[in-house]
Amino acid sequence: MTTTALITGANKGIGFETARLLGERGFTVLVGARSEAGEGAARTLRERGLDARSLRIDVTDDASIERARAEVGAEFGRLDVLVNNAGIASSTAVGTRGGPSTATRAAMREIYETNVFGLVAVTNAFLPLLRRADAARIVNVSSQVGSFRSVGTPGESLWYVTTIPYPTSKTAVNMITLMYAKELADTPIKVNSADPGYCSTDLTGRTGERTPEQGALVSVALATLPADGPSGRFFTDGDPTLNEPLPW
Ligand SMILES: NC(=O)c1ccc[n+]([C@@H]2O[C@H](COP(=O)([O-])OP(=O)(O)OC[C@H]3O[C@@H](n4cnc5c(N)ncnc54)[C@H](OP(=O)(O)O)[C@@H]3O)[C@@H](O)[C@H]2O)c1
Repeated sequence: MTTTALITGANKGIGFETARLLGERGFTVLVGARSEAGEGAARTLRERGLDARSLRIDVTDDASIERARAEVGAEFGRLDVLVNNAGIASSTAVGTRGGPSTATRAAMREIYETNVFGLVAVTNAFLPLLRRADAARIVNVSSQVGSFRSVGTPGESLWYVTTIPYPTSKTAVNMITLMYAKELADTPIKVNSADPGYCSTDLTGRTGERTPEQGALVSVALATLPADGPSGRFFTDGDPTLNEPLPW
């Protein structure tokens, strides 16, 4: 039986590597992307012998989400894995990068539209298809900077830990993970948050010390959890000393 995995924002970075690794584990991977870049990414994976298809999906656009859901429903009738990976850390809006006193409504709105509202909209659209799978897995890509403990650590000075929009969007993702896990507790579906660690991608301006593949491993592990695996937890693969569920 075909097992399908949809990864949003899979045309590059950690999402692309997640798609590749799940493809190598036998999934039919749906390379979610908001532009035609998804087609090139899916082609690259097919050239490597993987069963990959591009799926146009902009997580900020309900019509786009609905078209994607209808396409997956018509073709596969269910979805085994959803990796909510699409995310942005900064934007053109003033206030995404400075300290809390510089945050603006526009910056908050732009980051939350993708990282929070988009994640919920995509999850709810695909939930009926996920319920039809034998034991679906939902992975919400979060970040250690959304952890109270990380942000509360004295001496932490990286900009994204001191600014409001991005870290708090990931804190919201963690709470959302917990809430879905509770709602779905009497189903086989597991919902967890994944922190990829600090990776070298466009999102970090290529400053991260981990490769996108290393960042993808935690999402892959949570996407392929066994029946007795956890649900409603927050895992990081980026810091071996924190390689346990993080404190929320
Ligand atoms: N890199 C890190 O150190 C790090 C650390 C912790 C967490 N994360 C999280 O990991 C995830 C992947 O990030 P990355 O580092 O791989 O960044 P990236 O290379 O910039 O990739 C982000 C992906 O999200 C897509 N995306 C953005 N807005 C979208 C939208 N509205 N609809 C659909 N797709 C959209 C991008 O598409 P386009 O190409 O069209 O822009 C791209 O495919 C994000 O959730 C990020 O917050 C990253």
